[in-house]
Amino acid sequence: MEKPVILTGIRSNGELTLGNYLGAIKPLIKMQAMHAGEYQINMFVPDLHSFTTPVEHNLLYENTLNNLKIFVASGLDINNSDTYIYRQSFISSHTELTWILDCFIYFGELNRMTQFKEKSDGKESVSVGLFNYPALMTADILLYDAKYIPVGEDQRQHIELARDVAIRINNQFGSIFTIPEEWNQQLSFSNLHQGIRIRSLKHPEAKMSKSIDDPSGTILLTDNPQDAAKKIMSATTDSLGHINYDFKLQPGVSNLLQIIALLSDRTIEEVTIEWQNQTNYGELKKVAADLVGSLLSELQGKVKSIDQSTILDKLTQDEESMRAVAAAKLYKIQQAVGLRQK
Ligand code: TRP
Repeated sequence: MEKPVILTGIRSNGELTLGNYLGAIKPLIKMQAMHAGEYQINMFVPDLHSFTTPVEHNLLYENTLNNLKIFVASGLDINNSDTYIYRQSFISSHTELTWILDCFIYFGELNRMTQFKEKSDGKESVSVGLFNYPALMTADILLYDAKYIPVGEDQRQHIELARDVAIRINNQFGSIFTIPEEWNQQLSFSNLHQGIRIRSLKHPEAKMSKSIDDPSGTILLTDNPQDAAKKIMSATTDSLGHINYDFKLQPGVSNLLQIIALLSDRTIEEVTIEWQNQTNYGELKKVAADLVGSLLSELQGKVKSIDQSTILDKLTQDEESMRAVAAAKLYKIQQAVGLRQK
């Protein structure tokens, strides 16, 4: 019996932030430790998704490899035989299936995607790629019969689209695709991913993000550890004068509590009990700053010791295996729609 597939994307554009580390990298590594053995785990780099909004193209190729290095330095086990790592653009079935799916996805479905609306809002020119992004994502998922796709709430509509499209095509052509689980099932499967949203240190009501210009609010995993600690020490808090975990009233303080909990492997409840109603924001910042400083020094040390060729070898090998899997699935739909002989 083949193992059920868990599939997720590892972003490749731009540098990774502390928010990516705590919200995505760590949960994925935990997921691998929990589920390898029982499941096949596809972790791929959606490099074709990375320039639906403009990027520095001359950095993209290297960024992909550097980001994978960071995943490995953070504990991703690339020798695990249930884990496959590949770059989307190295497997041409992704784009070929996208075109076919495009003809079974409605304009209105893509037009009401929240992420598209947010990212295109107020822009003078918006690429067709940004609009079509969810169709490519649907292809990423359906090519490998993925059942579980651990992603954050912001990706919910995209997962629901993949599910709707799989059902639509199976209804018309017979059973071609595995139907991804419903969102609630996805949630209970991957509760690791929920609720972790690291905020900007400067504007703690917003997410920490590389795509918004906010250098003092954002910690990059490549930041000098002392500079990162300084950013934490000058984080925006509030004037209430006591520590509580309450993102509505005290987003800055709550963000720090969250960072402390995640970096010391404790629950937010434990950390909140320890700090509740204390008044010294400086102490709280100092603890968070020390934890972030040590994380960065340790991680950067490990990254230096990783040989890029082991990552390239793994990619090349897995891309070959997955190319065959994806091509077989593509062939089925090509037959179904009349492009290949049945
Ligand atoms: N859109 C995802 C994100 O922004 C990345 C992604 C692309 C993805 N294709 C995917 C995630 C397929 C899961 C499955 O995080």
